[in-house]
Amino acid sequence: MKESFVVNGLAGERTLKGDIPVRGAKNDALKILAASFLFKDTVEITNVPAIDDIGALSNLIQDLGSTVLRTDRGVAVTAPNDTSAKLDRTMAKKLRASVVLMGPILARYGKVSFPHPGGCVIGARPIDLFLRSFEKMGASYSVDDEYYHIEASSGKLHGADIFLDVASVGVTETVMMAATLADGTTYIRNAAMEPEIQNLANYLVKCGASIEGIGTPTLVIRGGDVLESKGEEYHVIPDRIETGSFLILAALAADEVRVTGCEPQHVRSLLSLLEQAGVNFTIESDAITVRKPSAPYKAVNIKTHEYPGFATDLQAPMTVFLTQTDGESLVFETMFEGRLNYTQDLIKMGADITMFDPHRVMVRGPHPLTGRELEGPDLRAGLAYVIAGIIARKKSTISSIGHIDRGYDRIEERLREIGVDIERISE
Ligand code: EPZ
Repeated sequence: MKESFVVNGLAGERTLKGDIPVRGAKNDALKILAASFLFKDTVEITNVPAIDDIGALSNLIQDLGSTVLRTDRGVAVTAPNDTSAKLDRTMAKKLRASVVLMGPILARYGKVSFPHPGGCVIGARPIDLFLRSFEKMGASYSVDDEYYHIEASSGKLHGADIFLDVASVGVTETVMMAATLADGTTYIRNAAMEPEIQNLANYLVKCGASIEGIGTPTLVIRGGDVLESKGEEYHVIPDRIETGSFLILAALAADEVRVTGCEPQHVRSLLSLLEQAGVNFTIESDAITVRKPSAPYKAVNIKTHEYPGFATDLQAPMTVFLTQTDGESLVFETMFEGRLNYTQDLIKMGADITMFDPHRVMVRGPHPLTGRELEGPDLRAGLAYVIAGIIARKKSTISSIGHIDRGYDRIEERLREIGVDIERISE
């Protein structure tokens, strides 16, 4: 069944009012599901968002022999004693996060086979760093019929000194997980430092792993035995991308909106830019309130960067914001070369945007947007279209909302609570 969102825009009025809660972070919840293969007992996870990617990864690990019990926003996962260690092609192609299964499975069972991972089409998204890291840890791989087969030569990985040419989130997580069960010590240099990685690392330590340097660019992992949760729950952190997207929406369309259940420390780079643009907000320990501004917003430049820099996953919603600021803004997407294509649709809505190359655009504002038919190209740009539709004149229809449902937990219900006129329709 094809579903779409129909949004009746506010035509630039700032009328949204009330509280909007942030759900658990997709990119944290997915990784602990993968990490469950490092455990001999059940891992209980709380604050899990009800999103399609969690369903897709749960199906994939069940197919590998795991037991997955789901409650409303909880999941209990128990890894199997043995497994085929071969990821189902159709299931794995549904999400990029399937790639992080390779570390824990290889470390625990000595081998893993997987197809090239799927996920959002936002660039080439290679897996060379994964393969090179596992070679350094004593594994070898072959490729046939589009499947990668990796095997630890003596049945077990060993520690290695690994420098990541790119501070990749997925590679840092995957190698860190694998290293907890390897023989000896692994160093990951130029490691990514995203809050989701820190949450995962801290939990692994609570359950018996030895990881030093958490939250720094050098991780030192001393390998040991299979981990035990002993009933220690994993609490998924608030989604910082959802937090940031709600703040941007509120800056554009709120009379007064309070984004609740968030971690303000995790969106500091965004808050710094919003402050420079003149957005009126106040911060509490787990909430941020945005109020109507007293003057027009000023243009700011953005450059995506690994955490704690400006998140690439917030680049599309922020570009929508910049269409409404006074002056010229340069948007530099450093990470993914396909991640500015959505700007063509913003131009059709009335934005003044010039693309210099696949990584850079110039936005001139402010220009009012007009609603139209849009097709969500990926998860984050999909939500950016919803925000654009909300501030635009007239009606927008956003199709392919499967992308949005992959990452946002019943988003339209929460948006309606603060006054957005949005409906989900089925064709
Ligand atoms: C994670 O993807 C997130 N996904 C992405 O969010 C996010 O955009 C990205 O990190 C950057 O913050 C998940 O956590 C599931 P990377 P990941 O490896 O781990 C290059 C969303 O919308 N690279 O940090 O795949 C790569 O091409 C998604 O929720 C290699 O060159 O990203 C990119 O340029 C989209 N070789 C850079 O590293 C490799 O082997 C950073 O990507 C691996 C990556």
